[in-house]
Amino acid sequence: MSKNGSISASVIKRLPRYYRFLGELKKNGVERISSRELSEKMKLTASQIRQDLNCFGGFGQQGYGYHVESLHSEIGKILGVERHFRTILIGAGNLGKAIALHINFETRGCKLMGIFDAKPSLTGEQVGGIAIRHTDELEDFCRENSPVVAVLCIPKANTQAIAEKLVSLGIKAFWNFSHYDLSIDYEDIVVENVHLGDSLLTLTYGANIITSGEEEDQT
Ligand code: NAI
Repeated sequence: MSKNGSISASVIKRLPRYYRFLGELKKNGVERISSRELSEKMKLTASQIRQDLNCFGGFGQQGYGYHVESLHSEIGKILGVERHFRTILIGAGNLGKAIALHINFETRGCKLMGIFDAKPSLTGEQVGGIAIRHTDELEDFCRENSPVVAVLCIPKANTQAIAEKLVSLGIKAFWNFSHYDLSIDYEDIVVENVHLGDSLLTLTYGANIITSGEEEDQT
């Protein structure tokens, strides 16, 4: 078992990428890979890879490389992908529906069990085989099914109220797409904020650097 209690946040952030690359190698029938080969594929240094994987007890053998399937499986265990955390999604608008339909929750440790929206006209509509429920049903559903993870795809203004309710109903982890920073209010829950706009700004920063001196406004 890993000793990941003391792993730095930056290593944890890299684990999903290792998991994804190793999953692809496994799918392509690769059995073993050296840290050098993995580093070439992932554009990390071999020593970075050795250091990262050593944090979890080191899965490689000198001169033998890493066994792809075992490493993939070990990292999967560290990431909790085999846990099937019961998951609900709140806000079945454009974003919520896209996430419910296009994210493979099951391969990422979560099982999407319920979708909720406050808009009565959406009640009963099927999204990826799950019928949207009205938020009035949230309490009963949580009591019966004890979900642990909530995906929030609702406007910022409504997030604090719904989050308070969900925490009181036992939610421990939020995948938060609303532009409200939940971690400010709750220190004992896990929050992963996703801001696609921030990712775009990181891109524009990079574009800004490599095109400095060129004409910025191309409209
Ligand atoms: P939308 O208007 O299509 O859907 C929002 C849905 O949330 C509606 O169906 C509405 O009835 C529901 N809703 C509102 N309050 C609720 C509550 N208290 N309980 C349950 N359902 C509730 O909007 P869209 O495009 O799906 O975006 C949703 C939110 O996500 C927006 O606030 C937007 O700013 C944000 N967003 C965040 C992104 C990110 O990268 N983090 C990217 C895109 C949108």
